[in-house]
Amino acid sequence: MDTQSNVIDITDRLKNIASAKAVDFVKSGMVLGLGSGSTAELAIRELSKRLRSGKLSSIICIPSSTKTHNYAEELGLNIINFREISEIDITIDGADEVDSNLNLIKGGGGALLREKILAQNSKRNIVVVHESKLSKRLGEKWSVPIEVLPFALETETNFLQKIGAKVSLRIDEDDTPFITDQNNFILDANFGPIEDLNKVASQLEGRAGIIEHGLFLDIASDVIIGCAEGIKHLTRKTI
Ligand code: A5P
Repeated sequence: MDTQSNVIDITDRLKNIASAKAVDFVKSGMVLGLGSGSTAELAIRELSKRLRSGKLSSIICIPSSTKTHNYAEELGLNIINFREISEIDITIDGADEVDSNLNLIKGGGGALLREKILAQNSKRNIVVVHESKLSKRLGEKWSVPIEVLPFALETETNFLQKIGAKVSLRIDEDDTPFITDQNNFILDANFGPIEDLNKVASQLEGRAGIIEHGLFLDIASDVIIGCAEGIKHLTRKTI
């Protein structure tokens, strides 16, 4: 195995162990929010294993994207929607960047809108990441994904540039614009390290053409980190 595949293998193993640790907090009878992305899928796979083995039972799930919905359905999980429940007990999700205050950038997979809806309606939000996602200041490593209404693509691109971001329209593998589950576009806004997260979030929230942004501030209750030295568990109470 070459060095690069070795690194990927170790990263995946750590993500796997950290996801299993997140699933340890799930109890039979709970309503779960299912995040999107490779780490969330590891947690979903672990969940289905525990359901099949009988370690857990009577779990119902709300997925945060069509992709996650299909994945959970293939694994035989019980899926519901918000018409049937009023609150989620635990949502388990990944993130693209995490700071020491448990603030996050999310939306690398384009599912930020439904992910935020799940998170805002969950009693507990457990985020699972590999240690490479940690940063001192959000924006150091990742652009902020921003879901925009196609009608407002140009106006919101101009606005984001005016407030200092380098902006690119997210493009799919087939060279066409990436389309979200809600039929919108994603603009990736590179602000560099963001000094005032709340200010940027409220600037974005003031725009009619912006449906949602990938800054998840004060939302995560726990972050479980797969590190080379072992698993770290940060909670909002301990920071
Ligand atoms: C999906 O829209 C994202 O918010 C993901 O949760 C995020 O991109 C993390 O994905 P990975 O677990 O694949 O790194």
